[in-house]
Amino acid sequence: MVLPFFSLKEKHSLVDVDIHSHLIPAIDDGAKSMDRSIELILSLKEMGYKKLITTPHVSDMFLNTSQDILKGYKNLKKELDHREIEIEIEVAAEYYADDNFEKLLKKKDLLTFGEDQYLLFELSYFTSPQDLESLVYDIKLAGYTPVLAHPERYVYLHNDIKKYRNIKDMGVLFQINLISINNYYSIEVTKVVKELIVNGMVDFIGSDTHHRRHINFLRRSFSQSLYRKIFKYNKILNNIL
Ligand SMILES: [Fe+2]
Repeated sequence: MVLPFFSLKEKHSLVDVDIHSHLIPAIDDGAKSMDRSIELILSLKEMGYKKLITTPHVSDMFLNTSQDILKGYKNLKKELDHREIEIEIEVAAEYYADDNFEKLLKKKDLLTFGEDQYLLFELSYFTSPQDLESLVYDIKLAGYTPVLAHPERYVYLHNDIKKYRNIKDMGVLFQINLISINNYYSIEVTKVVKELIVNGMVDFIGSDTHHRRHINFLRRSFSQSLYRKIFKYNKILNNIL
């Protein structure tokens, strides 16, 4: 990938497409209102994003149906048109891997993105999944391409890069959160994300924007030396979308 010249003080994204955010108002723990949602979108646009694939949570805490999400998306799009804000916006979801997810998977009632039906899913942060291999098998069998959200945040994977390799070998793509490189979560998470980056294990990058604090950290992530290393060591797929 040929990178345009940017100084280290640059506050712009090197990809046009963001694939992970919580921008639909009052549907999860992301934007709380339409005004806040618009504010976050304008900030992302200012950072150089041209297309946002927003991904509300579907979990036991946020039992959103596909219909709920599509309805919220339609309202948001209408508001963007109304305010004449030019940015492409699409919708998918971030699925927590639980029983409800398995039911939705059986019904093929899942919101995905891209031609390869990329399916963004997340795991528990603290408890290792019981049988990830068969879940991934089922996801692929149903015709989806599994994309694991923020692999750097799962503490039970932290001490062993082989665990990450094993998941990648199952055919799972990795989406890291950009704010992880900027110490947003913890020093440990930053250490792990660096390892994933320099070992060429990253497929997608995402902002995972929920609120203003994320925007502030994201803006500062672009000037981190680790940001450029993402593109040096990995084939990042964001811009094929
Ligand atoms: Fe998320």
